Amino acid sequence: QVKRDLAGLKLVVSAGPTREYLDPVRFISNPSSGKMGYAVAIEAQARGAEVVLVSGPVNLPDPPGVQVVKVESAVQMYGAVLEAARDAQMVVMTAAVADYRAAEPKSEKEAKTAGEVSIQLVPNPDILAALGREKGQRVLIGFAMETHAGVERAAGKAQRKNADFILLNYPTQEGTAFGGDDNQVTLVRPDGQHEAWPRLSKREVAARLLDEALKVYMRHSVA
Ligand code: C5P
Repeated sequence: QVKRDLAGLKLVVSAGPTREYLDPVRFISNPSSGKMGYAVAIEAQARGAEVVLVSGPVNLPDPPGVQVVKVESAVQMYGAVLEAARDAQMVVMTAAVADYRAAEPKSEKEAKTAGEVSIQLVPNPDILAALGREKGQRVLIGFAMETHAGVERAAGKAQRKNADFILLNYPTQEGTAFGGDDNQVTLVRPDGQHEAWPRLSKREVAARLLDEALKVYMRHSVA
């Protein structure tokens, strides 16, 4: 018996990596599998939410009952998330957005040369931070992968991006994070308050995340 506690709410979730093309056949990316974001979309849909899943390139089937918007680059993801978020009450950014893109992507395949080459990169727009600048009543949730000083860095990100909380994880743990079916996260609030959750399946992490998001939403709407 699934609770329908998200009925009437629209949730936007981003998932997977982005691809930043250098030329038509080469890109910069990362190993994000998209599993965490897809789990959030599936869980939210099961609980009655209207769900838009903005997904980078991943090898996962489209979840039934979810509106899936496929993108490649961070700039495309930015456009799709901001558009879908306009009338949403919750946005969960699980995507591993590339921080940089090529300043001048080549329109033709680059030939190999003998010497060194360098690529000029420019920063990508920060999607979560952009949403945070016009937050309104919306609940904003991010993820952060850190190799060190995790809680401090995640709290700083939550503050800077105006997120309600960030789920922190570490890339090095066995069976979790990138590609795994489980995740071990710590919920970090902007003021530095934090709680470590046990190792759970990504679906269970999604369920707890949505419980927490709903609490924040209720607080916002009575305030
Ligand atoms: O990359 P970083 O650790 O700053 O990511 C923290 C959060 O911000 C994640 O939820 C990520 O999806 C989001 N983010 C974003 N746009 C970016 C970079 C990160 O929305 N360009």
